[in-house]
Amino acid sequence: MTFWILIRSTGISAYLLLSLSIFIGTLYSLREQIKPVFKIPDLRIIHIYLSTMALGATFLHGGMLLFHREKERLSLQEILVPFTSRYDSFWIGIATIALYFMVLLAITGVMQRKFSIVTWRKIHAASYVAFVLALLHSIAVGTDTWNTWIVVLYATTGFLVGIVYLYRVVMLGRTRKSLAKPEPINHA
Ligand code: HEM
Repeated sequence: MTFWILIRSTGISAYLLLSLSIFIGTLYSLREQIKPVFKIPDLRIIHIYLSTMALGATFLHGGMLLFHREKERLSLQEILVPFTSRYDSFWIGIATIALYFMVLLAITGVMQRKFSIVTWRKIHAASYVAFVLALLHSIAVGTDTWNTWIVVLYATTGFLVGIVYLYRVVMLGRTRKSLAKPEPINHA
């Protein structure tokens, strides 16, 4: 029972942190465009903290599954090799892929200087794929999916990420003004 509660709470925390991290990260990439409208705090550092915590919560979430009650317990292989789980294999498989995207984003985030800006941005766009996969996984396998608060959480975060993503696509298309240059993680 305790592990089941931990699996659910770490899953919801991971999802919330990931969606906030992508929302704030997208606002940060649009800082040149939104600066004239809003006075913005240091979104970059908030984005880095949120993504690190999202990854940590996802590791805890996946790790707890090793200790679930016997019937639902997953082996390390079922957690790490997509689509090999005994139950909900598709929806758990896409979560494993989301986790790999998150790891890729974290590693390439730290190694940002090694890539050209164009290449790095293309890799970092995987964050939207990770978000969609995590959202689908959460809705499909969650025990709490139809709890009112969780419906509100998924709808609000889905809307917020969708709207900033569209704004970014439209802004870039309309103004042809390039996005501000990303600053490396270890930039003071
Ligand atoms: C290693 C990859 C992952 C595996 C194997 C996995 C597995 C699972 C399983 C088995 C459940 C069902 C728990 C229950 O009985 O309710 C679950 C729920 C959930 N997972 Fe994952 N998950 C993974 C990654 C993720 C990621 C990356 C996120 C979000 C960032 C996430 C968010 C959630 C959420 C929100 C729930 C629903 C909690 C609830 O409503 O009860 N998971 N996951």
